[in-house]
Amino acid sequence: MESQADQVVQLVSAIRCALEKRTGLEVVQQTLDRLSVLDLEARSVHSLTPQIPAQFDKGLTQAIDHIPVSLELVGQALDGAKPYLFWEPDNGDGTGYYEEGSDVGRSFRDGNMVCPLIGPGASFVPSDDLFLCLFFLQSQTLYRDHIHEASEMYFNLTGPCGFRLGNDDWVDYPGDSLVWNRPWDVHATRVYQAPFLSVVSWVGNINGLCRVVPRDDWQALESQLATH
Ligand SMILES: [Fe+2]
Repeated sequence: MESQADQVVQLVSAIRCALEKRTGLEVVQQTLDRLSVLDLEARSVHSLTPQIPAQFDKGLTQAIDHIPVSLELVGQALDGAKPYLFWEPDNGDGTGYYEEGSDVGRSFRDGNMVCPLIGPGASFVPSDDLFLCLFFLQSQTLYRDHIHEASEMYFNLTGPCGFRLGNDDWVDYPGDSLVWNRPWDVHATRVYQAPFLSVVSWVGNINGLCRVVPRDDWQALESQLATH
């Protein structure tokens, strides 16, 4: 049986190969540049005790099954790595990506988890200038409008999922799509029936926190999603 470290290396390699064919956005190249200087060998992967919140196990399997054929190799690598991954929800208690007490809403608080693949702190591969994670949102979740200083790539593996960028209207993105949030750009995500799985990277100030940016339609959006 292969080890956790082997599975993580295979997964990151599959993500890197896929990104190398999708370099239209500057943030993809920035991510690849930072990946290229990392020592992506099994011996440099930190061991993390696998964990996943039980309520998301089924949704994650559904999401992986939902990955389009154009990302087949990423899907296979994820399938293999799934039992070894370390997932953590951001409960809004100040230990995650927001200050304690931030108004992220129950939909997000109860519906998200992050698997930190590369970055500072508790990640499989240490890096001080790249944060790369898998980001899961369960179906019918609203990830409210927010900002951060880091430049951010969403490499969406599943879809359709909605993004609201700045003051623009919502736009739906399919599985195998990319979104670039430049530093301090306001953005929000909404998830329909298919659970959301994305590879998210941060470059720039990767240690800054996220801050919610209040909008007056959050509750309406959350109830709409809950009833569909
Ligand atoms: Fe973001």
